[in-house]
Parts: sequence; structure tokens; C-alpha cells
Amino acid sequence: MNFTLKIWRQENAKVKGRFEKYQVTGISADCSFLEMLDILNNQLINKLAKPVCFDHDCREGICGSCGLYINGHPHGPDTAVTTCQLHMRKFRDGDTIVVEPWRAKPFPIIKDLVVDRSAFDKIIQAGGYISVNTGGVPDANSIPIPRHNAETSMDAAACIGCGACVAACKNASAMLFVAAKVSQFAVLPQGKIEAKERVLKMVAKMDELGFGNCTNTGACEAECPKQISLSHIARLNREFLTAKIS
Ligand code: SF4
Ligand code: FES
Repeated sequence: MNFTLKIWRQENAKVKGRFEKYQVTGISADCSFLEMLDILNNQLINKLAKPVCFDHDCREGICGSCGLYINGHPHGPDTAVTTCQLHMRKFRDGDTIVVEPWRAKPFPIIKDLVVDRSAFDKIIQAGGYISVNTGGVPDANSIPIPRHNAETSMDAAACIGCGACVAACKNASAMLFVAAKVSQFAVLPQGKIEAKERVLKMVAKMDELGFGNCTNTGACEAECPKQISLSHIARLNREFLTAKIS
């Protein structure tokens, strides 16, 4: 397959960026999107040109580092996959593909397609953990947890912190991410002990870092590669209000 790529190039956050056009030819339909970018970078390096910087690590949908805005969609046109799991067969031969970094104020561009997502780490540091002593594995196994709660917690824990929800949202809201991180503990007995403190601190940090408000457009859920449900945002709101008035 042959493609024309329009890729965002930017030296750093202080200078203006621009789109640059590249041609890639003879790409296998089974190639992943990142492998296609590797091929492009090999071509650029062979011509002594600067390769395109993009973030990646696991290349199997786990680490959340490979977020790219592709043809107007975070992680591209496929559903429930990360950029590293996106295959070139999802495009048509001869297509022009536009590749951009996440566009959100709290995620400043480091270089080309790489953004600084450390704002998410700061939200987690504010309260996204359990610090009480929960004992060893046998203790955890002896605490009865309703199946529905265990499954809800596991579903929320599927969030990989990729930031697609923020990139998809016109307000750059991080509510789906924070909701997933609050939910995964809020429904478990071990997480309930610090629930009030956790939700208040995480929401305060989210606001402080400049993420926008949720206006219920649902773009985050639609673009989330792990299909985190909006129902977690409803739980976050309940947890927050309960913590505020109690
Ligand atoms: S909620 Fe979904 S889109 Fe947002 S960070 Fe988590 S996995 Fe990524
Ligand atoms: S490289 Fe880890 S999720 Fe894509």
C-alpha cells in the first residue's frame, strides 16, 4: 500500500509547528501504524533528515504512551484500539493520512508528536492509590467482595492513562481518566477508607493543572481505547458530592 502522510513537526513547545508531507510506499496491510512510522523514519535517517519523534513502549495496548491524533481521531479510525494496535489495512491504498499530537493545554508538546503527559502522573500522586495496610494476598482473598463491584473495579482499572479522552474532548477535560482512577478503588472495601480524601485531592489537582470541565458530550467514551464507561463519571460526581457535604 502507498500513503501520503501529513505529519506535525515541531522542534519544541516554544516554536511554531507545521505540517510536512511524506510519501511511504510498499507498506504491508498487516503493518501496524507505528511500524509504518518506523519505515518512514528509516527512510528519513538514510537521507540524513531528522526522524519524526513519537512516543511508544509496549506496542501491545498496555502502556498508554503511543497516543497520536490520526485523521481527526485519537488513536485513529478503528475502535477500542491504541495507535500501536492500529493496522494499515484500516486505511485505503493511496490515502492521505494526517498525523498530529494530542492537542490540549495540560499536555504541552515536547517534540513533533510527543507530548508531556506528566499532568496525569501528578493527578495520581495527589490520591490515586491506597496507602492503608491491606495485608497480604491471603487477607485480600478472605474479604468478600460482591461480583458486580469486583467487575466494576476491574473495568475501571483497564484505563491505561493514554490521554485520548482529554484529546477527544473540546474542553480538554480529564474527567474520564480521573473517574476511572477514582472508581477502581471506590467500589472496593480497601479503597473506601481513603475515598473522601482521594476524590477531593484528585479533582482539585485536575482543576489546578488546567483540565476543562465535563459537558457530557461523550467524546471521551467514544474514543477511549479501553472503552471506559461514562458511568464512571457519574460515580466520580457522586463520590465528590458525598465527600464535599459529609
Ligand atoms: S479513560 Fe480511556 S482514553 Fe482516558 S486515559 Fe484512560 S484509557 Fe485513555
Ligand atoms: S505503545 Fe504501549 S499502548 Fe501503544
